[in-house]
Amino acid sequence: MNRFEGKVAFVSGAAHGIGRATALRLAAEGAAVAVADVELAAAEQVVAELGGQGIAVECDITSRASVDAAVAATVERFGRLDVLAQVAGHNLANREPVEAGDGQWARQYDFTFTGAVRCVEAALPHLVATGGAVVLVGSISGVVALGTNPYAAAKAALSSLVRNLAADHGPSGVRFNVVAPATVATRAFKDPRVLEELKAIYPLRRVGQPEDVAAAVAFLASADAAWITGITLPVEGGLTTGPGHLIG
Ligand SMILES: NC(=O)c1ccc[n+]([C@@H]2O[C@H](COP(=O)([O-])OP(=O)(O)OC[C@H]3O[C@@H](n4cnc5c(N)ncnc54)[C@H](O)[C@@H]3O)[C@@H](O)[C@H]2O)c1
Repeated sequence: MNRFEGKVAFVSGAAHGIGRATALRLAAEGAAVAVADVELAAAEQVVAELGGQGIAVECDITSRASVDAAVAATVERFGRLDVLAQVAGHNLANREPVEAGDGQWARQYDFTFTGAVRCVEAALPHLVATGGAVVLVGSISGVVALGTNPYAAAKAALSSLVRNLAADHGPSGVRFNVVAPATVATRAFKDPRVLEELKAIYPLRRVGQPEDVAAAVAFLASADAAWITGITLPVEGGLTTGPGHLIG
């Protein structure tokens, strides 16, 4: 498939994990890719893997100035922008209780939700010019209760965001969607035994790989999803089917 031939993608959080896999997938399908990350040296390594059709850009999604500069550098280099994949993020505190305090709730919300808003706002004028697409990486914990309330709530807010953006900007031809992954084997899981144990909660009896999510991001960003906007697509190995697979 060459769904992104002649197109330009900006992928945040692209130095590692799901973002890296997304950058590789979009480039494999023809896109020129801006590999945007706080870790510039690691981003440069990903660019080296892309086969000459990318740039590394320093980008911290918690800073509007940083995001604006990264998107501007991308458009300056490639002359256009067709895809925003906002992947950067992580859970700032594991198993945080609901009593975490205002500061922790605010920090997670600023990172996860407002960080996505910063990326969308910087990219939008360029995406209107090309009739482009936005894909935000949410989480299945924004759909079902899996612990860590601030992270889950901030990810859930992304689904509301894309519904509203899809309605507001649909007439200009820009689409907005979320992918909501469940457990994906990335550096976010430091202990491989945890991933091994988690296999059992999935009907497909495995956790996800970054490439599983990258394929879904690429689908929603592509013309194959030309009539899909405002949705949250679970990418979750059957997790939300319920406990039926555990019953003999
Ligand atoms: N791994 C999972 O099980 C899982 C499940 C659901 C959702 N997610 C989501 O997927 C996304 C990617 O997670 P991952 O597991 O690939 O993690 P990862 O740690 O492998 O990659 C995250 C990337 O984001 C970058 N990053 C961190 N802070 C940043 C910032 N302020 N600005 C720009 N870049 C920043 C990191 O340098 C890194 O390259 C996150 O949004 C995460 O919440 C992950």
